[in-house]
Amino acid sequence: MSTSPAKDAPAAAASHTADKQAAFAKGLDGVIGGQTAVCSIEQDKLIYRGYEIHDLAAHATFEQVAFLLLEGRKPGEHELARFKAELIAERALHPAVTSFIESSAGWLASGRAVPMDVLRTAVSILAHTDPECQDNAAPAELRKAKRLTAKIPTIIGHMQNVIDARAIVGLERGGDPTLDHAANMLYMMTGKRPSADEARVMDVSLILYAEHEFNASTFTTRVISGTLSDMHGAVCGGIAALKGPLHGGANEMAMEMLKEIVNDVGEAGIGTSKVDDWMNNAFETKRKLMGFGHRVYKNGDHRAGILMGLGKKMADSIDNAGQPTFGALRAPRWFALGEQVQKIMLDKKKIHPNVDFPCGMTYFTMKIPVPQYTPIFVAARITGWCAHIIEQHSDNRLIRPLSIYTGPAEKKW
Ligand code: CMC
Repeated sequence: MSTSPAKDAPAAAASHTADKQAAFAKGLDGVIGGQTAVCSIEQDKLIYRGYEIHDLAAHATFEQVAFLLLEGRKPGEHELARFKAELIAERALHPAVTSFIESSAGWLASGRAVPMDVLRTAVSILAHTDPECQDNAAPAELRKAKRLTAKIPTIIGHMQNVIDARAIVGLERGGDPTLDHAANMLYMMTGKRPSADEARVMDVSLILYAEHEFNASTFTTRVISGTLSDMHGAVCGGIAALKGPLHGGANEMAMEMLKEIVNDVGEAGIGTSKVDDWMNNAFETKRKLMGFGHRVYKNGDHRAGILMGLGKKMADSIDNAGQPTFGALRAPRWFALGEQVQKIMLDKKKIHPNVDFPCGMTYFTMKIPVPQYTPIFVAARITGWCAHIIEQHSDNRLIRPLSIYTGPAEKKW
């Protein structure tokens, strides 16, 4: 016997709700959100367009990796020279962006804005200065991606000069055109040309941070570009998502946590049971320890060991050269504390460090101000975001998931 559509409706609605309940995963945990040719993450491998991360960290430069992500292949010698020249030519900022950065000094000093906020607004202004801002065609997007990649380190550098009340370094040309990308960013931030060691460690950290599949900020950029909105808008959304301490903001918070431990246990407490006591207290109070854990990696983050090794080596060499102490401690002592914290986390909680944990100590060793750690993450991830935005626009479908209603039952108004 056939039933009427009206009679079928409650049963259909109930089964629809049951389907949704069955498909539901809080935080989209384990949900496949789309396809990508940019990056693959497995428990045992991290791959950028076919190249494994240890291989890239050991043998490539950031500019080569940026080309790989944006243009889709390993660059030949001439292609790389052309790409580097394009980035150098695009480093300088429009005066509207520079004067915004200068005008943000008071907000930065009062704490009403942090560098990630100023960077987000500066990128928003960059959009108005970009002649192709509204053009979502692939060739225009590639040009915009290069401009963003070139200009973001200049924003970070100029912002640090404003914070330090120093004349803007390399104002006319966005730094020193003879320096590579990573070295030039450090030069613009400090006014000093970095050592080869510092430049290489920064370069590798940018490679490690460049791309990571459907992480929260990249997914944000894909959701925004999926509405056919523009690249600059999507990048502003990406910056906002990356700022959070559960994502990129963890590199700043990881260093702040180590400082807090030193403050509480004293320098003499490093390597002793006082650090265990501090950690046990954190476990008992259910505190999230920043720079640990990962939604996807359950046996450790491939990038963390690479950066830990490089950062520690640099810290040892700085200490051997007898340079001044960092805060209360010499650089290697911060790494000694970091290793102790890592061991306790693994022994007691079976939770591994992620890339943000060694990043904090490494950038600290390079005397980079802590509030610039996440903006530097942006300077790297801009390449991955733009690659994803171009990919999304090239084969678009609006990203629009469902939700499960938890509000009141239907009632009469
Ligand atoms: N400290 C203490 N406990 C933790 C941590 C941590 N960092 N990470 C996970 N746990 C515990 C968590 O409390 C939970 O325990 P229980 O089952 O007893 O409730 C269990 O491990 C599973 O954790 P979860 O919260 O379900 O894991 P998730 O996949 O939702 O979260 C995460 C992943 C990255 C948000 C989380 O590990 C975290 O908050 N870490 C600290 C922030 C951080 O370092 N973020 C950087 C992420 S990777 C690089 C990047 O994006 O920049």
